[in-house]
Amino acid sequence: MSQPRVSFPLAQGTYSRQAHVAVPPNTFEREHARDGFAGPVSHLYHRHAPTSWTSWVGPHRPRLLDLNELPGADSPWSVRPVVFNSRGSVRFWKLASSMKTLCRNADGDTLLLLHRGAGQLFCDYGHLEIREGDFLLIPRGTMWRIETSGSCEFLMVETVGDRFTVPDRGMLGQHAQFDPAVLDIPQLDAAHFAQADMPGEWQVLGKRAGTTFQVTYPHNPLDVVGWKGDLCVLRLNVDQIRPVVSPRYHLPPSVHTTFVSERIAICAFCPRPLESDPQAQRVPFFHSNEDYDELLFLHRGNFFSKDHLRAGMMTFHPSGFSHGPAPKAYRVGQQRSRDHTDEIGINIDFRDPLEVADLSAAVDIPDYALSWTEYNEGEKR
Ligand SMILES: [Fe+2]
Repeated sequence: MSQPRVSFPLAQGTYSRQAHVAVPPNTFEREHARDGFAGPVSHLYHRHAPTSWTSWVGPHRPRLLDLNELPGADSPWSVRPVVFNSRGSVRFWKLASSMKTLCRNADGDTLLLLHRGAGQLFCDYGHLEIREGDFLLIPRGTMWRIETSGSCEFLMVETVGDRFTVPDRGMLGQHAQFDPAVLDIPQLDAAHFAQADMPGEWQVLGKRAGTTFQVTYPHNPLDVVGWKGDLCVLRLNVDQIRPVVSPRYHLPPSVHTTFVSERIAICAFCPRPLESDPQAQRVPFFHSNEDYDELLFLHRGNFFSKDHLRAGMMTFHPSGFSHGPAPKAYRVGQQRSRDHTDEIGINIDFRDPLEVADLSAAVDIPDYALSWTEYNEGEKR
């Protein structure tokens, strides 16, 4: 039996009839939402910014993580997850040179974003030249390795006991945001067969239930001569994403959803024009996304609602409290002095509570939780 639900808006006091448009003067709109941006929701109109608290005590707090400060490793399994729970994790992996061993995740699918660098991916399904901005969706149990002549940096998301796929785009149709035909697959090309002939023993470093194991072959096991089926490595570059926008309404982050698993949603925020309707909000609304812990990784550009982010940084906004635009970004949005954003930001939402690793102060930047206090200095709309 479906859950009873009031199906019409109830209202009290001063409010806007259209969310994110014509917000009443001298108020801050906050969205109080369930199920991401698709469930029951109300908009509350506050006299003060909902994030303008002056003190925060306890480890459960908003965080700003500078992943650029993390050390590198030969294998992703030598890198501690930055955030994790029983259903998934996020790592930031700096690879200084070509991998010496093959890698295999027996816990679930892996999604890599090549944040910096270039190289070659060799895997069970063949070979791909990879470049910055490539998402690589690697199915559970695939063997793979990276060759690079320089260094590479990857954002790495795993979904434990699950798989990543592309979301249902509903009324937008299956070709919106990106056409499935733009997805690349590995090639059984000359580079693949050349590496298959590389002599000597090969090790595979696997991960299962969070522990690693090493398997040795007397030959290179990436020796496939052909394959067929509907399971393989997929590649999508962020520059192939064509964002969905509305000139008259600030669409929720969920409209940018790019990959999903049962408990994780990944949205790529890509360069796009901002709203042109003079009454439409231009920065993300303050919101309490009560059913998700949210991460935002900046891959490239200037993130339009967070002026203190630089590439390689990631914010963590856990469920339990509101978050919203940084004061300076909010002011810029109010002044409507920018008409587009050049960001490529990767939003990763976890349905289950995340733990944060013990990180140095160089990575886990102190006092980010108090970064909204400037709203208390007479910056009302
Ligand atoms: Fe959010």
